[in-house]
Amino acid sequence: MPCTVVVGAQWGDEGKGKIVDALSAEADLVARYQGGPNAGHSVIRGERTIVLHLIPSGILEPGKRCLIGNGVVIDLEKLHEEVEKLEALGVDVRPRLGVSSSAHLILPYHKVVEAVAEQGAGAIGTTGRGIGFAYRDKAARTGLRIGDLADRDAFVARADRNLERLRREYPEASLADTSGARLFDELTPLVRWVLPLVSDVSYELHSALKAGKRVLLEGAQGTLLDLDHGTYPFVTSSSASAAGAPLGVGLGPRAVDKVIGVAKAYATRVGLGPFPTEMPEDEAARLRAAGEEYGATTGRPRRCGWLDLPALRYAARINGLDELVVTKLDVLDEFDEIRVAIDYEIDGSPPPSFPASAADLERCRPVWRAFPGWQCATTGARAWSDLPEKAREYLAFVEREIDVPITTVSVGASREAEVRRTG
Ligand code: IMP
Repeated sequence: MPCTVVVGAQWGDEGKGKIVDALSAEADLVARYQGGPNAGHSVIRGERTIVLHLIPSGILEPGKRCLIGNGVVIDLEKLHEEVEKLEALGVDVRPRLGVSSSAHLILPYHKVVEAVAEQGAGAIGTTGRGIGFAYRDKAARTGLRIGDLADRDAFVARADRNLERLRREYPEASLADTSGARLFDELTPLVRWVLPLVSDVSYELHSALKAGKRVLLEGAQGTLLDLDHGTYPFVTSSSASAAGAPLGVGLGPRAVDKVIGVAKAYATRVGLGPFPTEMPEDEAARLRAAGEEYGATTGRPRRCGWLDLPALRYAARINGLDELVVTKLDVLDEFDEIRVAIDYEIDGSPPPSFPASAADLERCRPVWRAFPGWQCATTGARAWSDLPEKAREYLAFVEREIDVPITTVSVGASREAEVRRTG
């Protein structure tokens, strides 16, 4: 593995946390490369489910160095809360955590204006964490970064300019009582707390790779939510796909030598936007209950659908997937029929390639193929041969169609509940 990327191959919530947690055992360093506390990576340890939002899922593996890269947007309050929670569970976080000084800050005003923007016609069903507005400031070169916390005067001046602009743009947002100085003063205890964690993430990773250490780069959200390649504008505001990984931690693209995609055995989506294989609600309710498909960050019920091969082929292309990990196969155990979209049609004809626009994707109708369900429990399977034949046929069909080998299948929430394919 010298440098492996783990990336969501669908609309997020693929179960990347569990996969990164397992792969961390073989890594020396684990780094998050994009997104922010919009993510919710659930990792089960014993009886406990731990949900990580900003900290790499590798933190639960003792001794691993965990880094938050320049591509991530950080809400200091949330980061502090997460570290405190983990430390209360006995995880030694701070000695092992490094935060890039170039990572941008999510400030309270980002969340205030996002709440207003999401009331309007352009709503996309965000997680409400201020993600889009923090990245907007980054792209507009008006953002404040972790490194800026070391200079109060410069921070205050820039925050005041940002507030002035936002008050004009969003007169209905309650920003009257705030100011750059007030913001900084409120943040001061967190500033003191975070500055000792600052690290040159790019340098650390580069040096580690040079010394022969193994690095895991952990993505959040998924390919179809990528700012450039997702179902724009119903996307998140960062580069969730694999190309965002080296960019988001300060490595060159040739540093990466393996890309592992993660996809559920079916599909889900949270928030608004096209979802060609979405099920009618009565069917979705059954899958949602079986798969506990509720947002790990917001608790929102996820929209549910069948596996979408055109979308998965697209994810294989965009990310250059070397391998696919299929998660939550066990959720399909009870279904007598399992459907898969093998292609799309728009007005009776196949689109030439995966539609780049949400409007075109909205018009796509899936071409279905039905598989007989295996209707027995898979959760105890530990070897490929333990899986029922019908499940193996389903998986073999998927890997043939997307031309990417399936190397691991997850069959339950616990860390042991997986089948690694050998040979
Ligand atoms: P934002 O990232 O909060 O701006 O939300 C933009 C879109 O991405 C919305 O549709 C969210 O529901 C979706 N989204 C953001 N983070 C996640 C995630 O971790 N899992 C699934 N969907 C997400």
